[in-house]
Amino acid sequence: MPKGTYYFPENFLWGTATAAHQVEGRNANNTWSAWEEEPGRIINGDRSGLACDWWGGRWREDFDRAQAGHQNAHRLSIAWSRIQPAPDLWDEGALDRYREMLMGLTSRKMTPMVTLHHFTEPLWIAEMGGWENEAVVDLFAAFVRKAVEALKPYCHLWVTINEPNVYAYSGFLEGVFPPGKKDLKTMMLVMENMVRAHARAYTVIHELQPDARVGIAQNYRGFRPASWFPLDRWMANLLSKAYNDSFPRALNDGVFDAFFRKEGIPEAAGTQDFLGINYYSVDEVRFNLFSPKGMFSSLASPADAPLSETGFIASVPSGLSDAVRWGDQFGVPMIITENGVEDSTDALRPRYLCEHLHALWKVMNGNYPVEGYFHWSLVDNFEWERGWTQRFGLWGLDVETQARIRRPSVDLYAEICRTNGISADMVEKYAPEALPRLFP
Ligand code: FCB
Repeated sequence: MPKGTYYFPENFLWGTATAAHQVEGRNANNTWSAWEEEPGRIINGDRSGLACDWWGGRWREDFDRAQAGHQNAHRLSIAWSRIQPAPDLWDEGALDRYREMLMGLTSRKMTPMVTLHHFTEPLWIAEMGGWENEAVVDLFAAFVRKAVEALKPYCHLWVTINEPNVYAYSGFLEGVFPPGKKDLKTMMLVMENMVRAHARAYTVIHELQPDARVGIAQNYRGFRPASWFPLDRWMANLLSKAYNDSFPRALNDGVFDAFFRKEGIPEAAGTQDFLGINYYSVDEVRFNLFSPKGMFSSLASPADAPLSETGFIASVPSGLSDAVRWGDQFGVPMIITENGVEDSTDALRPRYLCEHLHALWKVMNGNYPVEGYFHWSLVDNFEWERGWTQRFGLWGLDVETQARIRRPSVDLYAEICRTNGISADMVEKYAPEALPRLFP
């Protein structure tokens, strides 16, 4: 078996991704802290609680871990509810803390990427109708102005909105995120307002920081027809267009087009400098006449794909290559802003990492411009409605004691980041079962 290393381009960004509500702890006053209080919303009645205690200062030790692991970048989010706790109140102390965190990254030679909206907003925004009310567009722009003015000396990579499709789908169709609605029309309205808000934020950021680079983090889901049956193919296509394409396409063309609804949003045209791709998994799609609630489709994990601990993720590395080929249609450089697997025992993660990075390396040889990879996540954190049941960290977390638990993936990822590549030796050591396929 040949030995060797698959190298990534020079200056490739290697990091991990986190989100404010999931790691900071003591987050009150936002839509998720309120959601956690409602019985039945979170598995086992779990709470984010102290989370990883970043707000208490433990970001320092975790950034040390990332730095020791040779990561040269980190993606985090800032909480609108902390910075603007009430419509007419800006908390300069909160901005100072974020400033300190970003300086904590740059002083550790890590490039910061900041997400401005990652699933949560202040309660006062929810009370005025949240993303269903078009007024949110101006309010979000004002928040972005304030935050970027304060933080621009330390960051020039901005994600306006994380996974607008997941936010809208989970909160307004599936009903498992706040506000727990189940209405297709409202979901579309929310997505459109998010397109408008992104466009405004894009302009504001560039006005304040001309050399900023601004994009979204789009959740890309592979939808593969389960059979040759034409209706399965048609359905897979339809889902992919609505779920994957509609939002980033609107940022190219200024037209939001999903599920037979078309809306011109001309100010959104040409408002992405890069495309952030969050990729986790793939579904096989069948047309199903008996599932009007599922929009006449049934989804299943590919039969031969290894499943994560709770069955949430089917490991399909080729889906990441598909994501990059798909993302290329938008004509801007791409960054993998999230990818990872829930796995408390680290039984699957090393293999998942090796195989996904191999798939990424392979597709990049087709000359697709991918600038970086952010693993989800640095340390186990609060996994939304799934609470603490899913462990996505390279580092484990003992929620009771705040102790960090070193998983083998910590050392694997550190070797990858240090060498800027993935070698046969690493695969042999950490995921030997993948060796024959990755280094044939
Ligand atoms: C993504 C979210 C992120 C995390 C991962 C597992 O959809 O952006 O916050 O929950 O899934």
